[in-house]
Amino acid sequence: MDVRARFLNFFQSKNHIIYESMPLVPNDPSLLFTNAGMVQFKDIFTGKIPTPVDKKAASAQLCIRAGGKHNDLENVGYTARHHTLFEMLGNFSFGDYFKKEAISYAWEFVTKELGFNKNILYVTVHQNDDEAFEIWSQYVSPDKIKKMGDKDNFWQMGDTGPCGPCSEIFVDQGEEFFHTQEDYFGGDGDRFLEIWNLVFMQYERKADGTLCPLPKPSIDTGMGLERIQALLEGKKNNFDSSIFMPLIEEVSKLTRMPYIHQKGASFRVIADHSRAVAFLLAQGVNFDKEGRGYVLRRILRRAVRHGYLLGMTSPFLYKIVQKVCQQMGTYYPYLFQKESSIMDQCQSEETRFFETIESGMDMFKKELSSLPKDAPFSGEIAFKLYDTYGFPLDLTQDMLKEEGRKLDIKTFEFHMEEQKKRAKASWKGSGDEIKNGDFLEILNEFGENQFNGYEHSSFTSKVIALLNKDYKKITQLKEEGYIVFETTPLYPESGGPIGDKGVLYKDEKKIADILDTKKYFGINISKILPLKTISVGDTLHIIADNERIETIKHHSATHLLHSVLKKVLGEHIAQAGSLVEPNRLRFDFSHPKALSKKELLEIESMVNAIILQNIPATTEYLPIQEARSKGAMALFGEKYGDIVRVVSFADESCELCGGIHVQNTGIIGSFYITKESGVSSGVRRIEAVCGKAGYEYGKNALYVITQAKELLKNQDIFIGISKLKEQIKELKDKYSKNTSDNDLKAFEEIKGTKLIVQKSLSSNIKQLIDIAKNKYEKIAILLVYEEEDKVSIACGVKNATINANEWIKQIAKILEGAGGGREDFATAGGKNTSKIPEAMQTAKDFAIKKIEEFT
Ligand code: ALA
Repeated sequence: MDVRARFLNFFQSKNHIIYESMPLVPNDPSLLFTNAGMVQFKDIFTGKIPTPVDKKAASAQLCIRAGGKHNDLENVGYTARHHTLFEMLGNFSFGDYFKKEAISYAWEFVTKELGFNKNILYVTVHQNDDEAFEIWSQYVSPDKIKKMGDKDNFWQMGDTGPCGPCSEIFVDQGEEFFHTQEDYFGGDGDRFLEIWNLVFMQYERKADGTLCPLPKPSIDTGMGLERIQALLEGKKNNFDSSIFMPLIEEVSKLTRMPYIHQKGASFRVIADHSRAVAFLLAQGVNFDKEGRGYVLRRILRRAVRHGYLLGMTSPFLYKIVQKVCQQMGTYYPYLFQKESSIMDQCQSEETRFFETIESGMDMFKKELSSLPKDAPFSGEIAFKLYDTYGFPLDLTQDMLKEEGRKLDIKTFEFHMEEQKKRAKASWKGSGDEIKNGDFLEILNEFGENQFNGYEHSSFTSKVIALLNKDYKKITQLKEEGYIVFETTPLYPESGGPIGDKGVLYKDEKKIADILDTKKYFGINISKILPLKTISVGDTLHIIADNERIETIKHHSATHLLHSVLKKVLGEHIAQAGSLVEPNRLRFDFSHPKALSKKELLEIESMVNAIILQNIPATTEYLPIQEARSKGAMALFGEKYGDIVRVVSFADESCELCGGIHVQNTGIIGSFYITKESGVSSGVRRIEAVCGKAGYEYGKNALYVITQAKELLKNQDIFIGISKLKEQIKELKDKYSKNTSDNDLKAFEEIKGTKLIVQKSLSSNIKQLIDIAKNKYEKIAILLVYEEEDKVSIACGVKNATINANEWIKQIAKILEGAGGGREDFATAGGKNTSKIPEAMQTAKDFAIKKIEEFT
């Protein structure tokens, strides 16, 4: 049975609008990942955005609970029902129906649509919610309804946000299968399985902990798709269902180990985590050292460690991830589209961890075996595992849990703190440092401030808040800190373009430099350096830096580049990263191989052709569906509300975007691709310039050409250089024919041994070495001959305490080459000609050391 379709059809028939699953990364800094179906409706519940005309909605929402308030990570694999990634089926009412209808719909769906036997259904309600108890009594006998406290029956999205009492529906899976002490109704065991949570949204939790009533009581419900699927298939464990078994079987195939339920936690962890990895990568989250990317890395490393426990010593998870793409791609087609790039990314990350896992595990075991009974595991070693071997803290904790050991977490934290201090002092930090700031207070007091930068690049506005370096509210600012205006034209860094800089004026006098602008918790704030004291309440004139127009040009050029890349390389192109500055742009995208010169030229000319047509930009606000059907390119990692901003340049480009753009493409000037390179496997990077930077680039290129021409006495450059090359070759050949030891003069004498380390103009270095060896009694000689893009080396030793083979190997390594030979003669080749001076110095030092060492 297709549970997802059943659910959505059911609520559609009850006049609910069906919403698509929103991205796993919400545009909400208070949340790590989308962790419930209600997240995309949060602002509607709190009244921040107007209630849609249709007040009833339903969705099947992909959720991740691997951090933050709702974190199931450490339970995964060990219980029957926890997952990092799962799908939440939910129906919602925005001030339309309330408890009575919500309960009646749920009952009808569970008993009629899904066909659950009424006798096995149980219900909990909040201890103060007599109303819900009453309503339920019409369906369920009162002995199957239990009142419980806040811990179980009060639901809230995060530390702040919409919340309310809730009521949960449970299925009794049968006494015969479950016998732990917790397997009673209301206990923590698996027998009574919670399938559906109905939240009666009534409040909003503010940052100071107080509960404010919502404008209209609403409904938010959530039912775990994986649990229902398992129940309907008669399975007592989600992992036994048709959702997970194919993945577990794949693990079994790869590890050549049978899956035995009692010993199968590692199989289950891998099956679960492969889904989170697949979806997060597909939605554009990359492995990273911090933030969401670090959670992704932790999930992957946890899965890899379990693979290692099953005997895997090289990447395997990417194959399970492929299976996920194939299994889920029918409903989420982007998994099909991105299958190969997801696999590549996963495989390289696995490779990286496999490089250190063995040494890390050895260190872990060694420490463990040396510990006295009951002693906690060293925090210093846990830090070392983290820092040097890439073992995330929770991975080490997991391993310790299996051993029944505790960790000296204080020492670990001490080392982390020390490291943070060393790395601190950066505005472009992880965001951790802002967590403790006073943003939510400002938000509560003033709401989000206004941005009018689409129309203005300067504006006069009132200062509503000031923050010191630690993001704490202050009333006066004398040194570097942050400023919040009622209305600001300054564009905050987001989705590529960097934040605006500029100056602040008071009474026509400059009062501060604006260093950067960002958006936190919906508040647009600028970092400033005041020249004089600024106070809350001051009215200041804000002027965005002229650089801004250059940033805007590069931003619009990025849109054009993105759409041209799709035309030239194919529809699989997806943005993987973007940086837009006043003097350059950098665009990362998924593509399996390096771009050819021809492709790059074609891309560059197509972008320029669009620029030259002087196409005007149009900005529209459209419902998401309409924007999609217009072909607007949407990026994952952004939250799209009902209505989205679409920026188009006629038929050439159409993208969802909140940024500022040129009025018409002509303003961009000329566009040059300056570099193409690889970022990671499956991800390429194009760097380009336009506008003023484009002009500078062209000018410099032309200058080089003019200079070269002058040097070549105004000949055609290509003809001139070819002639020069020919002459050099002729001279070299001539010189080589007259090989003699004439150049071998620059020797040193160390303890009676002649030492020659020298660049040779002749290619006959072997012959020269022979000549020198015949001439001197005790000699060590190494000659280097440089050609256009490679280098040859030879060395000879006679009656000296150096091994020629050893000598040459050291040098070849520096030149990124290889070679070898006998004790008295060896040759090698190298690639990196820029390292020749370093290589020769090393050769000399090595020889002197060897000669001196012996005598
Ligand atoms: N938002 C509620 C939950 O996640 C339905 O359980």
